[in-house]
Order: sequence, then C-alpha cells, then structure tokens
Amino acid sequence: VISGLSFGAEKLYVGTNAEFEPFEYLQNGEIVGFDVDLMEEIAKITGKEIIWKNIAFDGLLPALQTKKIDVIIAGMTATEERKKFVNFSQTYYESNQMMLINKENPVVKSFDELKGHHVGVVLGYTGDIAVSEIEGVKVHRYNGTSEAIMALKAQKVEVVVLDSEPAKNYAKQNPELELINTDVAKEEYAIAVRKTDEALVEDIDKALVELKANGTYDKLIKKYFSD
Ligand code: ARG
Repeated sequence: VISGLSFGAEKLYVGTNAEFEPFEYLQNGEIVGFDVDLMEEIAKITGKEIIWKNIAFDGLLPALQTKKIDVIIAGMTATEERKKFVNFSQTYYESNQMMLINKENPVVKSFDELKGHHVGVVLGYTGDIAVSEIEGVKVHRYNGTSEAIMALKAQKVEVVVLDSEPAKNYAKQNPELELINTDVAKEEYAIAVRKTDEALVEDIDKALVELKANGTYDKLIKKYFSD
C-alpha cells in the first residue's frame, strides 16, 4: 500500500438534536437512533463521510443558514414556514402530536380541552406551534424534551404535548404517565438542506428511494419501532 496519497471521502456536516428517542438520542455519549442510521445509509450511497453535530433544536436552522452544518436530520417536520428557508427531502416518516398527563391527575381527554390548562411544550417544536394557536392555554416552554417531562412529573404542568414516537417512549418509561392521542394534523419528517444546495437534496432523495426499494428502510423501521 502506498501511503499518503489516499483522499478521504467528502465530509458532510450533519446537525441533529439528540434528545428525541428513538430518532436521535445519546447512548454512552454517542448519538444513535433511527435518523442516525438512515443518514449513515444515505451517506454510504452518496459517498460522503458524516461529521455529526449535536445542537439545540432551535439552533439547527440558524446553523444550516450560517454553514456550520450542511444537513439537518432531527425528526424535523417539513412545515410551510420552514420551507421558506430550507429545502426538504421527500418524507421519511409520518407522525402526529400526542399528549402526556399524570394518571393521577387526568385533566384532559382531548386536545380541544387544553384551554385554561398549564401545558408544557418544547421551544420551537411543532407541538409548541400547535398549542400556542389555542387561545387561553397557559403555555410553558422548555429547552428540551426531558425537561418538559420532568416538569410534568413534578406537576409543574398538567399536560405535555409532544411528537408521537418520543411521547410513546416516555409513556413506556414512566408508568405514572398516560398517553392520549390527538387529532392535530399529521406531520411529515424530512431532511433539510440549504436552498442553494439543490444537487445535495436530489442526491438525498435518490438515496431515500433506493433505501426504501432495497429493504434497508424497512429494516431500520423494524429495528427502532417494533415493540
Ligand atoms: N417534529 C417536531 C418539529 O419539527 C419536533 C422535532 C424535535 N426533534 C429533535 N431532534 N429534538 O418541530
């Protein structure tokens, strides 16, 4: 082997916010999860090497715009508002908002009963946006998902509104909490890139099509979502 002349693969800086199990979370200090595996598979196809960056959720879009990262994969919902600033790949997961309450304090049964209640959300999440639209709700915004859940367990808030899969996880891990489904609109998770990086989003889309066709996507779904 002649050393010294091998060039590494092109680097891709990928941002996420690793407190959103099972999409991205920390395990022994390492970022793992469905999104991580999916993005690594995409990178394999497109011949890139990923450098992962773990940042606050509301810092992801600014980090993309200022080129600190090139891609966001973070269970991020492709909202109309966000589409003004970034390009999204095709949808890779569908979810919706759910509510968590304390079993011993079942203050609401449905989303339209939130009015007048103390409701915890995570700053900038789609749950924050949905709850903030309801008049008369006392919205408590937390910096992270686990902080919102801690506030619920300490009865500082009566309800937490959160994406379905992480909400299910917290319900499983905390038997004192109850999970309630909502009829708030379906949400589509997609990968975000800068508007100017058209070739990149095309490559990601092509890779996603391939991964869905060759069974890799289904394998990852089974790995992270079968109970
Ligand atoms: N789907 C929600 C949103 O787009 C929450 C995503 C939170 N993701 C995370 N990795 N913390 O606002």
